[in-house]
Amino acid sequence: MILGTGIDIIEIHRIQAAIERWGEAFLNYVFTPVEIDHARKHKFPYPHYAGRFAAKEAIFKATGAPQFAWHDISITNDSDGKPVCVHRDPDFKLHILLSISHCRDYAVASAIVTS
Ligand SMILES: CC(C)(COP(=O)(O)OP(=O)(O)OC[C@H]1O[C@@H](n2cnc3c(N)ncnc32)[C@H](O)[C@@H]1OP(=O)(O)O)[C@@H](O)C(=O)NCCC(=O)NCCS
Repeated sequence: MILGTGIDIIEIHRIQAAIERWGEAFLNYVFTPVEIDHARKHKFPYPHYAGRFAAKEAIFKATGAPQFAWHDISITNDSDGKPVCVHRDPDFKLHILLSISHCRDYAVASAIVTS
């Protein structure tokens, strides 16, 4: 059963500026190690950081759970490249379906929560 949906869009340059200004402190505050590893595989990592940032915002909207911390959710990719959402609490029962896209200037993500 669908319980909620969320969407978010972000300008990639805002994430790039935050990373350039705050460096590792910003990266480690917002992103999990697996998310940082994924972005760093790319020559220009900022769209991938921005996509995950947007995805986490979309998840917060979809779940209606603003008490989530940034690291509660880790976004990985399956063997096809499809984004997969992993909650660090093994007892977290909801399923979160994600889609991420980025172009030159923007990253966008949508999340659908199901039971
Ligand atoms: C996978 C694909 C859809 C990605 O699209 P794109 O325009 O290159 O890239 P986008 O910026 O829109 O999306 C990138 C994000 O897509 C997601 N993604 C990658 N592979 C995916 C897949 N197999 N399924 C779902 N999402 C995928 C990832 O989250 C990725 O971002 P990330 O690496 O930062 O996590 C594209 O490369 C592709 O294979 N297209 C084929 C389309 C096709 O065959 N159409 C005809 C039949 S309908």
